[in-house]
Amino acid sequence: MTNIVETDVLIVGAGPAGAICSMLLADAGVRNIVINKYASTSPGPRSHITNQRTMEILRDLGLEDEAKAQATPQEKMGHVFATSLSGKELGRIYSWATHPLAKAAHQLASPCSVCDLPQYYFEPLVIAQCMLRGSEVRFQTEYLSHEQDAEGVTALLQDRLTGEEFRVRARYLVGADGARSKVAQDIDLPFEGQMALGDSGSLNIEFTADLSELVAHRPSDMFWLLQTGSGLNGTGVGVLRMVRPWNKWVCVWGYELSKGPPVLSDDEARAIVQRLIGTDRIPVTIDAQSTWTINQQYAVRNSRGRVFCMGDGVHRHTPMAGLGLNTSVQDAYNLAWKLALAVKGFAGPQLLETYDAERSPVAQQIVSHAFASLGTLPPMFEALELPPGATDEQMQAAVAGLESAALDAAARRDRLRAAMDATLMGFGGGHGVEMNQRYTSSAVVPDGSPDPGFERDPVFFHQPSTRPGAHLPHVWLTTGQRPISSLDLCGKGRFTLLTGLAGKLAWEVATQRVSQAFGIEIVVRAIGPGQAYEDAWGDYRKVSEVDDSGALLVRPDMFVAWRAHDHTSAAGDELLDAMQAILGTGSA
Ligand code: FDA
Repeated sequence: MTNIVETDVLIVGAGPAGAICSMLLADAGVRNIVINKYASTSPGPRSHITNQRTMEILRDLGLEDEAKAQATPQEKMGHVFATSLSGKELGRIYSWATHPLAKAAHQLASPCSVCDLPQYYFEPLVIAQCMLRGSEVRFQTEYLSHEQDAEGVTALLQDRLTGEEFRVRARYLVGADGARSKVAQDIDLPFEGQMALGDSGSLNIEFTADLSELVAHRPSDMFWLLQTGSGLNGTGVGVLRMVRPWNKWVCVWGYELSKGPPVLSDDEARAIVQRLIGTDRIPVTIDAQSTWTINQQYAVRNSRGRVFCMGDGVHRHTPMAGLGLNTSVQDAYNLAWKLALAVKGFAGPQLLETYDAERSPVAQQIVSHAFASLGTLPPMFEALELPPGATDEQMQAAVAGLESAALDAAARRDRLRAAMDATLMGFGGGHGVEMNQRYTSSAVVPDGSPDPGFERDPVFFHQPSTRPGAHLPHVWLTTGQRPISSLDLCGKGRFTLLTGLAGKLAWEVATQRVSQAFGIEIVVRAIGPGQAYEDAWGDYRKVSEVDDSGALLVRPDMFVAWRAHDHTSAAGDELLDAMQAILGTGSA
């Protein structure tokens, strides 16, 4: 055994969760090592849907433009249902907020748009930034085990190039090691639900083919193709998923888990692809094959002592609703600032415990939502009155029957339309699930206001609020006459206090006192006429829910930690008490 390497935070896993956590720690000046068992980042495209909250995090990290440059924009996203790519089209849905009303709701909710960024472009972007910003990044390095004590964690790692084992001593250990997380297993996290549900697995066939002539006139990132046979997860639907418009694709097809993963020759794989394209006229090159299963499992708690798990390590679910990578990145955004404050000695263990209180309920929520979304696919078959295991002839007859002028055909068409519309739940319809997180923990100080609940269904509709525990609402302000989002005034690893002109001087004094007492930076941003930030459209006044002399204390992860409705003589003391409660330290 060689020397012990020392660091502050060891992150196991350099996927989306681990890399974002590492980058945020590096930005905060915290020493960290991030390891990846393999020689490369994700070889397959995997995740595509990158939602507004994730784009906001990339924006805070200064990476939004680079991510957009590599992504397919929202305008080219959408879903088509058909018998094959060159066969009969059954209908389309406005997925991923491409409907004008949904798009407006998205534009009101965030300065960022959802986009389609394949994970094999996302990962190199973020891991390169980790290296540039000072993280120690090691590939071909495997986590084997760890022990923790009162002061830190000692992990045993193996260099997979040489086989040599070595130890890392860190203050904290982060398990971002994916759906088969060994770290989560080693700290014995309790899980609900199960992995590999049912008897259906999914086969991804990556291929290159210029399909422009069949798709460019109806831009969509996913084509759901009703086919007999196993299809995706036994639903009888095969999928052609765009990776790059319109020549890089993934074909998703089902297989019976009990028979084991299929090993297909390129010709066999090409035959499946061509069946979904509906012609063998277009040349198809098979690039890769991989398999995955439908999981429905989440950790009831996500940490133990000095070890914290995140990402797929604590929530494992179907890709329906596109929440996996997004939630993983958001876990990292929640934990990293807390770790940074703890490492620097500005926060106690109580702040770190809020990671569990805040993110475990989110894991449960998104796993349930993803699974419920999967349940929206079978009704399409019911609408077509197709029996399980329908033959090609039955499928063709059912589809041909839709073109009949008979009254019962009209009823079938209505049922099919309703079934297709219902799938929107899993394809961007859950704007509320993506955006409405509300935290309850000691890092959120209640202001005594009653919980207003939600005016509209919180699964489907975003509802902004500044009540402590809610995400800071986005509105457009101006700076030097140029638009700037309210979110752009916050983040960058710091606490921010937003106030109006009437509260500016008093809050500057109060904040300086609190900053000095706890040794942490709190940036004050006054919004008002003649200030660096002006409420040009009057929207901040409408959403802030506090008076012009009031204040919002925003955490580094953009959640409102505390608010004051107006400035009173006790305001300074109240801010001091609030910060003490958030940091979980003794009296200042
Ligand atoms: P991830 O699995 O990505 O990374 C784990 C890391 O840990 C890797 O670097 C691995 O090498 C490393 N590791 C594992 N064990 C280790 C060990 N013992 N030692 C050292 N390193 C170790 N999500 C989404 O938001 N939108 C979407 O559209 C989709 N679509 C989608 C489609 C398909 C087909 C799949 C399979 C998945 C998706 N997802 C998705 C989900 C998304 O891919 C997934 O949620 C994220 O990759 C999770 O990121 P993590 O960083 O948590 O784990």
